[in-house]
Amino acid sequence: MSVARLLTRCRLRPTSAPLLGAELSSSASPSSSSPGRPLSAASCPLSYRSEPSLLSATPATPTQPVVYVAGGLYGNRFALDEIERLRSHDEPSSVVFNGDFNFFNSEPEVFREVNGRVLAEDPDSLATAGNVEREISSPSFSSCGCAYPSYVSPAVASRADAIVSSLHGTCRTSPFGPALAALPSLLRVSLHGAEVGVVHGDLGSLAGWSLAAEMMDPPDRALRAALGIPPSAKPTPAAQVAGQLKEAGVDVLCCTHTCLAFLQTFAGGSAVVNNGSAGMGNFRGSGAGVVTRLGRAGGELAGEVAGRVLYETTVGDLRVSAVEVAFDEEAWREEFLSAWGPGSPAHESYWDRITGGVQFWEPRQALRTY
Ligand SMILES: [Fe+2]
Repeated sequence: MSVARLLTRCRLRPTSAPLLGAELSSSASPSSSSPGRPLSAASCPLSYRSEPSLLSATPATPTQPVVYVAGGLYGNRFALDEIERLRSHDEPSSVVFNGDFNFFNSEPEVFREVNGRVLAEDPDSLATAGNVEREISSPSFSSCGCAYPSYVSPAVASRADAIVSSLHGTCRTSPFGPALAALPSLLRVSLHGAEVGVVHGDLGSLAGWSLAAEMMDPPDRALRAALGIPPSAKPTPAAQVAGQLKEAGVDVLCCTHTCLAFLQTFAGGSAVVNNGSAGMGNFRGSGAGVVTRLGRAGGELAGEVAGRVLYETTVGDLRVSAVEVAFDEEAWREEFLSAWGPGSPAHESYWDRITGGVQFWEPRQALRTY
């Protein structure tokens, strides 16, 4: 995968809209966002570009009968512990870290541990790139690569840039740069008769926003109001998403970049599932992460896993579940504060979400089955 720093404009919308801190904030304040939220008039590396045909041409990677998809770990090694614990109670499983497993881990020891574990040579542990991995492994720092839409505050974007800039410095002094730069953007698995695509953003870009919860059709008006989405930011038509999945040859598409968890089904039986964040709170009042579990429909889940299922659906014989990652929040907060204390860019943008989840989002809203 080329990581050439050829740039092309990828402005998403005219900008005059109210600014907001979208998915990563605990409230609809304009002060927080995701390592995946775009700058208005952002520039996107050409290497971020994708299209459905690239996924349809990607050979399937062999996996175990259960696959965990864990996007947005954000350097939380306690979440990594909990994902491993869940897997130890489950059927034989593979895990796919689909990008942004780095973010808050600029402290060298934590950076080394997270990347050493995620990138370990293990056929059941797979990884794809997020914008964070692309940017920190580039020769020189330019931005967080978030491609924020115009409705996100420039202050949010500049704080994300500062976080990734710090991480870039850590990465440059580590041995992980070449492995991070070589990560694929796409992955495909065949599981229980279903074809599953794994991307970071959407089928058009590694940092795409067309599959953000607030952009889904039919629109969640309460969510869009909470985020201050302007009317000019039209939802992505459901028929367009279903058509892209068909073109990509997948029944289920897993993504994460926009960092607000949801699961939506489409006419024809396909589904998009965004796990939000594996390493940070996703729902009102909870600091727990979320991963997507893919397994065979029917039968009982192991108790340790069943008790953590937030919502789920089936696509043919494939069971698609959003599973809570109940990591050690006290330890995580302590580690976060040791690196990003009050007044720091990460604390300013993410502390409320780390301690209280996303105040305007609940699991009942995230399950969009029709
Ligand atoms: Fe991202």
